[in-house]
Amino acid sequence: MKEQLETIRREALSKVKEAHDLKELQDIKVTYLGKKGSLTSVLRGMGKLSKEERPVVGEIANKVREAITNEIDEKTEALEQAALEAKLENEALDVTLPGRPPQVGGPHLLTSIIEEIEDLFIGMGYEVKEGPEVETDYFNFEAMNMPKGHPARDMQDTFYITNELLLRTHTSPVQARTMQQYGGGQPVKMICPGKVYRRDTDDATHSHQFTQIEGLYVDKNVRMSDLKGTLDNFAKSIFGSDREIRLRPSFFPFTEPSVEMDISCKVCKGDGCSVCKHSGWIEILGGGMVHPNVLEMAGYDSEKYTGFAFGMGPDRIAMLKYGIDDIRHFYTNDMRFLTQFHHEKGGAQ
Ligand code: DAH
Repeated sequence: MKEQLETIRREALSKVKEAHDLKELQDIKVTYLGKKGSLTSVLRGMGKLSKEERPVVGEIANKVREAITNEIDEKTEALEQAALEAKLENEALDVTLPGRPPQVGGPHLLTSIIEEIEDLFIGMGYEVKEGPEVETDYFNFEAMNMPKGHPARDMQDTFYITNELLLRTHTSPVQARTMQQYGGGQPVKMICPGKVYRRDTDDATHSHQFTQIEGLYVDKNVRMSDLKGTLDNFAKSIFGSDREIRLRPSFFPFTEPSVEMDISCKVCKGDGCSVCKHSGWIEILGGGMVHPNVLEMAGYDSEKYTGFAFGMGPDRIAMLKYGIDDIRHFYTNDMRFLTQFHHEKGGAQ
């Protein structure tokens, strides 16, 4: 029996030593010390021993149990410690690694330019209006003094939806819509930014969809000099206070007289260079005094009221301001292009 106990001790201790995990240790405990374990069954045979032998064997058995229990406890602790260390090792953070920068979005360059121009005009007392991109033939053309068959319609190749519905070719219809809304009896001072559409083939300077900002000021005694002062203020605040403007006679059906505005070339300061096609000037926008027909159709008495209007292209303005050579950059969503302008006015940091 003593030998049996000794064998159990040896076997159990060596198994405990070799155990790899807590589950194995638990199994060993059950195998040797459990109710049906080998030590327990040896102890059950103690009844057959003599009175003298019993306490001796009993003591040895207790020692064996104690030895195995201690060994299991120690091993359990060692395994738990090892598991904890492995876990810590795995989860180790290298606080010296550079962080991943968060991806911060920002407004599109055209949005920033439009907002900058809006702010400027709001500061001059204008309100910001909107109009539909799907427009009626009436507002897009007729109310702008281009009746059906008018040759000027051909200058704006149009996406028609039906005979009477189209994608607006310019933001000018919002002039008529706003004047109608004001009912002919009140001054109007508004700008309208928005998308416009033309049946153009896309290339570096043309896009079938682009943006415009319309401006309209109608009141008693509005004069051409008011238009000139307003546009001069606009040009200097968007392009720089050293820029000059000039107005050239032009033609638009909805203004009379009509003008085109140029700004002095930043590169050559008027001497002529490749940027300004050797003229010293760069064309920026069209405008003029609102045609009496346009006023009358919108319900304004053209004997009492006069007004000026202008239309500009934020795409072109952004291209000139930032030296962008292809209008398609605005619409092809290449992040390498777009993110360069996130610091612009109104942009995220
Ligand atoms: N609507 C014109 C265009 O798209 C631009 C324009 C010119 C608007 C003169 C105006 C204006 O309000 O007075 O080409």
